[in-house]
Amino acid sequence: MPSVLITGATSGFGKAAAMRFAKAGWSLILTGRREERLKALESELSKQVPVLTLTLDVRDSDAVTKALGELPEQFLPLTCLINNAGLALAPEPAQKVDLKDWHTMIDTNITGLVNVTHAALPLLLAQGEGASILNLGSVAGQWPYPGGHVYGASKAFVQQFSYNLRCDLLGTGVRVTDLAPGMAETEFTLVRTKGNQEASDALYRGTTPLQAEDIAEQLYYLATLPAHININRLEIMPVRQAWSPFNINRDPE
Ligand SMILES: NC(=O)c1ccc[n+]([C@@H]2O[C@H](COP(=O)([O-])OP(=O)(O)OC[C@H]3O[C@@H](n4cnc5c(N)ncnc54)[C@H](OP(=O)(O)O)[C@@H]3O)[C@@H](O)[C@H]2O)c1
Repeated sequence: MPSVLITGATSGFGKAAAMRFAKAGWSLILTGRREERLKALESELSKQVPVLTLTLDVRDSDAVTKALGELPEQFLPLTCLINNAGLALAPEPAQKVDLKDWHTMIDTNITGLVNVTHAALPLLLAQGEGASILNLGSVAGQWPYPGGHVYGASKAFVQQFSYNLRCDLLGTGVRVTDLAPGMAETEFTLVRTKGNQEASDALYRGTTPLQAEDIAEQLYYLATLPAHININRLEIMPVRQAWSPFNINRDPE
């Protein structure tokens, strides 16, 4: 039975991916900080497949290394790692934001992602052919926008780290993809605005954003491609999202 480790399974893409992979009969290792949500998912999905939940902050490298070093045999070797845990904070301009928010994004989206990857690599190498690392990047990693500052830069890291991993994993059979979504309706904007439900609702109102299930479907597709195929980067936007022209700062008339 193939197994998947999903970080940030308590909400959004991670939760939807847990449901998608469970439907296909994969064993699940689900992580996140909110234990009660993990337990609720476990009691729902363990009727279908083996489920292991790990209450884990990806920023804590010792805890990550310990937890992944002690996985029960039943869940090994690991077929797929979904590095999904992540967040954006501080949508204001760079010059107005709190330094702490920048550190939290770097610690989660970069340090947390490399903590989990480092600990999971031996488990994926034990699988070899057909194994995958699916990293959640973002369109923000490729395309700049106002208020993107450290969030976009952290996702640019995810893209380049994914490409560089591919170079080192050549010959092992382990695949790596940077999956880069555009606007998707999850708890992402609620987190970014520190709990402002109105701001979150306003962002998604009157348009058709991607849904968590859309991304889960792509994750499942990537994980089940024939073993000789690697999609390096998969960027997905809703049809109703596109780029803007450059902004120009002009003198007053
Ligand atoms: N929604 C979008 O528009 C969008 C677009 C492009 C990329 N993304 C990326 O997609 C990923 C998932 O986002 P989402 O939209 O599904 O947002 P979400 O609904 O807020 O889910 C984020 C998940 O990350 C987990 N997480 C955050 N910090 C963590 C930490 N320190 N340790 C462990 N888990 C942590 C959260 O779990 P706990 O709080 O329980 O720990 C939660 O399960 C993120 O990497 C995000 O940057 C989102």
